[in-house]
Amino acid sequence: MVENKRWYPLYHVAAPVGWINDPNGFCTYKGQYHLFYQYHPYSPQWGPMHWGHVVSKDLVHWEHLPIALKPTEPYEKEGCFSGSAIERDGKLYLIYTGNAEVQTQNLAVSDDGINFEKSPDNPIIKAPESDEIRGADFRDPTVWEHDGKFYSVIASKVHGGDFRDPKVWEHDGKYYAVIGSKTTDGSHGQALIYESDDLKNWTFKSIAARAKENEGTMWECPNFAKIGGQDVLIISPMGVNPVGNKFLNAVDSGYMIGKINYKDGIFTRGALDLLDYGTDFYAPQLTQLADGRCVMIGWFAMWFADMPEQADGWAGTMTVPRELKIKKGKLFSVPIEELESLRLDGVTHSKLTITEPTKLDGVEGTTGELIVDVNLAKSDDFSISVRAGEDEQTLLTYDKATSTFAVDRTNSGEGPKDKREVQLSPANTLKIRAFIDRSSVEVFLNGGEYVFSMRIYPKETSQGIIFASRDGKLILNEVSFYKLAEGIPQPEGSQPDRQIAS
Ligand code: FRU
Repeated sequence: MVENKRWYPLYHVAAPVGWINDPNGFCTYKGQYHLFYQYHPYSPQWGPMHWGHVVSKDLVHWEHLPIALKPTEPYEKEGCFSGSAIERDGKLYLIYTGNAEVQTQNLAVSDDGINFEKSPDNPIIKAPESDEIRGADFRDPTVWEHDGKFYSVIASKVHGGDFRDPKVWEHDGKYYAVIGSKTTDGSHGQALIYESDDLKNWTFKSIAARAKENEGTMWECPNFAKIGGQDVLIISPMGVNPVGNKFLNAVDSGYMIGKINYKDGIFTRGALDLLDYGTDFYAPQLTQLADGRCVMIGWFAMWFADMPEQADGWAGTMTVPRELKIKKGKLFSVPIEELESLRLDGVTHSKLTITEPTKLDGVEGTTGELIVDVNLAKSDDFSISVRAGEDEQTLLTYDKATSTFAVDRTNSGEGPKDKREVQLSPANTLKIRAFIDRSSVEVFLNGGEYVFSMRIYPKETSQGIIFASRDGKLILNEVSFYKLAEGIPQPEGSQPDRQIAS
């Protein structure tokens, strides 16, 4: 049972109790949005993976459904790992990884989107033998060069133990699945493509892309999507070393923009770039909506991080859904417009000159949406504290000399103590949009150009939002704050938020 809901989210997807990690099976089925997740219902620690399940009509109000998959078969005896979902002929197909001595891909099908039957033909995909991949492997540009050497077919085979997280999509009447893997020598992550006419019989097509220098030793949770006429590959690579302010976490997710050639299955692409600058974002999954938008949800936590909510009987949430757009050759993550339907009371303050720490009427809370439009040209260094209390606060700061924006949780309360930052291009204004939700803050800058997803663990009484100029003034064009409605059922037996007496 969730013992205490001090950190339990109001509108981010979380499990009713227990541990969650990756989003899985994010799809539209019979007009509703389904989201599954890696789930260990019996404790707030990772354990044999099940698939938890929520459903929504609008992507922001979610209902819990019964557990969709449990590890019952020998081929998944160590868990039903990540995978994806697709609708075909009125049925919902889940394609997921069975974790056992080797990893294989498996199928479960449902007529009602609630009860799933595993295919008697499982596993439906096994790691390819070297003979099978030889052809694709020698095709340019999957042969790669490193330090003046070309790598041989031996180093290019697929590692049977790390072969997981199938993401399925349809293109021109055929089904494709991209699967995460690495070379047999464990040195390079790679994404494999399979194809099928019926979702049941699959053939290996290609190694679509492989890690170049410092692009990871294993690629988890690959996703292909069409965004603004371009193909985008999103991966969750292990083993990428930090580069400046990027890739600082135990693991981080990234993207590459390019073009898939459906004839040979090769993805020609640009370099890997970071998707989220925060401390807690991994294994995102994408889905393409009927209206053409490509929406992403990520796991809002981090492997190996301290998770104080485990003391309350649960661990991990999902991020808010984000629409992906390509602008200026980069991938932007924009909170989906449906999130505005969660807004309750709101206040707006305009044209403010801040010279000393200032609270604004109606701008505070343990949850809510904060929108700030800063006149950067006329402002000096500044900070905005959220979840501020007597002895703690999470700081959003801007340093004018270096154009550096940071989210700092060294004094946020319990949990990890660190900060993340990004250097902004010079501009006259800065638009900050922050979603605050009991144990998290998600900060979007300039319409999704940069995002910081950060978990924080303040006291319930720390509800303040304080605007401050460090030495001089902070000019705010506009500040809005909205209280937000419940988006995920609250755990039973929990108490309503304690409000500060004003
Ligand atoms: C990514 C991941 C996946 C795997 C799942 C297991 O976070 O490691 O590769 O399928 O989690 O829970």
